[in-house]
Amino acid sequence: MVLQNGPRSGVRVDYPDSALDEASMAPTWWQQLSSWLADAAQAELPEPTAMVLATADPEGRPSSRTVLCKAIDERGVVFCTNYTSNKCHDLWATRYACATFPWIALHRQAHVRGSVERVSAAETALYWRARPREAQLGAWASTQSRVVPSRQALDNSYESVRRRYADVEQVPVPPHWGGVLIRPETVEFWTGRASRMHDRLRFRVDDDRQWHLERLAP
Ligand SMILES: Cc1cc2nc3c(=O)[nH]c(=O)nc-3n(C[C@H](O)[C@H](O)[C@H](O)COP(=O)(O)O)c2cc1C
Repeated sequence: MVLQNGPRSGVRVDYPDSALDEASMAPTWWQQLSSWLADAAQAELPEPTAMVLATADPEGRPSSRTVLCKAIDERGVVFCTNYTSNKCHDLWATRYACATFPWIALHRQAHVRGSVERVSAAETALYWRARPREAQLGAWASTQSRVVPSRQALDNSYESVRRRYADVEQVPVPPHWGGVLIRPETVEFWTGRASRMHDRLRFRVDDDRQWHLERLAP
């Protein structure tokens, strides 16, 4: 499919100027990212915390999927998932990930790139307790990324988990579920500008753990 010849071929979004300059950036990447996340929530974007998580397997074959960002602080960015999923097979093998927040409606994008590690059991428990009970049961019922025989098999699995915990007030955290922290080495902030002369500002940490802010060509 050649999109240049498609029905929207004449439609080019020339982004209104929303300049990003060094002086107006927050002092740290995580304050800047938190501020943009707050703007996305304020703008009532659907799933403002959604980020596209890219991983690679040991042969370098990439995969991506959407996950929800659960926390941002000076350590990094946290999401929660099934530790035996395909994404985690990639993550435990390579120890690296990249996540992109595509806030297209705001003409903004942010990338976080760095090493990954599990968060502590205590921290996972905090995210677990914030999940609705149905989502907790779903995490027990699903062998994420594995082939299942049918939808019926999945529904049966959920029902059996629901019955198992029917009289249990606090559903326990499954051993295969928890938080993953991406500890960034670079965090890039992008805003759309006129004439495709977009702004890209990147925080980068050096070997002495000092952060630098640098501008990239669009
Ligand atoms: C909006 C949205 C949010 C999602 N959030 C999560 C999440 O926080 N954690 C998760 O494991 N999967 C989440 N998913 C599902 C993943 O995209 C993916 O299907 C799943 O994690 C399995 O990926 P994998 O087989 O590559 O490991 C989300 C999907 C969408 C569309």
